Amino acid sequence: MEYLVDMKNITVKFPGVLALDDVSFQLKPGEVHVLLGENGAGKSTLVKVLSGINKPASGSVTVGDKHFERLTPEDSVNCRISIIYQELSVVNELSIAENMFLGKLPTKKIGFMPVVDYGYMREVASKYMGEIGLQKDPDTLVQNISISEKQQVEIAKALSTEARIIIMDEPTSSLSIQETENLFNIIRGLKKKGIGIIYISHKLKEIKEIGDRVTVLKDGKYVATKEVADLEVDDLIPLMVGRKVKNMFLNTEEDVSKNEVLFSVRNLTRKDGTCENISFDLHRGEILGFAGLIGAGRSECMEGIFGAKQISSGEITLKGQKLDIKNPYQALKKGIAMVTENRRETGFFANFPIWKEVAVSTSLKRSGLGGFSGIVHVDEERSAAETATKQLNTKCSSIDQMTVNLSGGNQQKVIISKWLAVDSDIFIFDEPTKGIDVGAKSEIYQIMRNMANAGKGVIMVSSEMPELLSTCDRVIVFREGRMSGEFENKNLTEEQIMYAAIHEN
Ligand SMILES: Nc1ncnc2c1ncn2[C@@H]1O[C@H](COP(=O)(O)OP(=O)(O)OP(=O)(O)O)[C@@H](O)[C@H]1O
Ligand SMILES: [Mg+2]
Repeated sequence: MEYLVDMKNITVKFPGVLALDDVSFQLKPGEVHVLLGENGAGKSTLVKVLSGINKPASGSVTVGDKHFERLTPEDSVNCRISIIYQELSVVNELSIAENMFLGKLPTKKIGFMPVVDYGYMREVASKYMGEIGLQKDPDTLVQNISISEKQQVEIAKALSTEARIIIMDEPTSSLSIQETENLFNIIRGLKKKGIGIIYISHKLKEIKEIGDRVTVLKDGKYVATKEVADLEVDDLIPLMVGRKVKNMFLNTEEDVSKNEVLFSVRNLTRKDGTCENISFDLHRGEILGFAGLIGAGRSECMEGIFGAKQISSGEITLKGQKLDIKNPYQALKKGIAMVTENRRETGFFANFPIWKEVAVSTSLKRSGLGGFSGIVHVDEERSAAETATKQLNTKCSSIDQMTVNLSGGNQQKVIISKWLAVDSDIFIFDEPTKGIDVGAKSEIYQIMRNMANAGKGVIMVSSEMPELLSTCDRVIVFREGRMSGEFENKNLTEEQIMYAAIHEN
């Protein structure tokens, strides 16, 4: 069998970390090869060897008939390898066509003057956009299209370079169900062209749907490669995690709806109109889920509650006391904590070690006058950070490591840890398990349930229906900025939620 890519015995070291230890990996033409592993297992590190960013200490890479000890980014391009990172690299200020030709704008001559050949650009862009079904004008500015369309621009761009190998690192983490299905259709089309796809995801059920083979990494080491057709996805969990994952189903038998109302929101409307007339109660001990399609206004509503964005009307009451929250600092002071969705953008300080990062929210809450108190509680903070990193199994060399050097999912865990360490009455989690591996997911659900059992109120915004159904006591559904359904989680089904998310009530 001829491989598109044959990586042999790859070892990659970072200061103090053996990120990959003697890992081999092959990609066949026309296959989707899923890379699976816990946060920090080495998945992104492996694909970054193919894009020329990571230089292996040893090993070799063969792409077609070319052999390399280390690829440079130019080698990677010449080998027709395209990588679509989770943090998409499109330029918002440019048009779709300009993005597709970024760095290689075609020119034509008018007289002796070379000018950009926009006609040609549009034509080629339209051709590849058409191939994957992206129905937009190629002149549309990228800032005006959705995340899934931006991703399609990147795929069209890869096709325009005649990519033979396309790498997707957690491509569906911000996509809705329909957008994911659309991506899978595009991927099926790519396979038919003989393109090989390396696919990284923490969503295990996607493996059966789109994968042909799956390779599991653990702690930088190769564990196994399996044909997807021959396996049950659950059988992969022990290979990834190497320990038993706790029961994912945590619904309490207790009827928390009879508990006192801890927190209530009445007629909340945001100035920018992204959510309108939102009213709900949260009981003591309750986990309240918020479902809906991406863009339905759930995060926007939570930002409004948390004071991160302006509201034009609405009343927020905590323990019977009306709150007037103007910014997140005030929300924190009053007893509301929030783990935001865009954690990598808004979540952390690049130059902080883990322990300081975890301590930020607690010291903010302790402080007066909108800043740090200046009183340092180092021992306490360090031990809180130790506890939190152990609890979520955050992979790091020590709590003194810089957060920025952690893998994507481990950064997320650190940011979640810093909110868990805060003593609040209300905890809002926006997509808490995005990018988080299967073991830590169940830990997070358990922590949420423990918080609720301790008399807190917990809100979880999630696009993963199975986790809403397995964790929440009640689910509110949003559709186009408004509430379109509310369900007790008793015999509730994904279909019921979907129906409310899509149809007018
Ligand atoms: N630039 C870097 N400097 C130091 N350490 C790094 C760097 N990049 C990655 N690492 C370390 O290498 C290991 C593997 O990280 P990698 O990003 O490959 O994990 P991953 O499997 O992609 O995880 P995730 O699912 O969280 O994205 C981690 O321990 C990480 O901290
Ligand atoms: Mg990664």
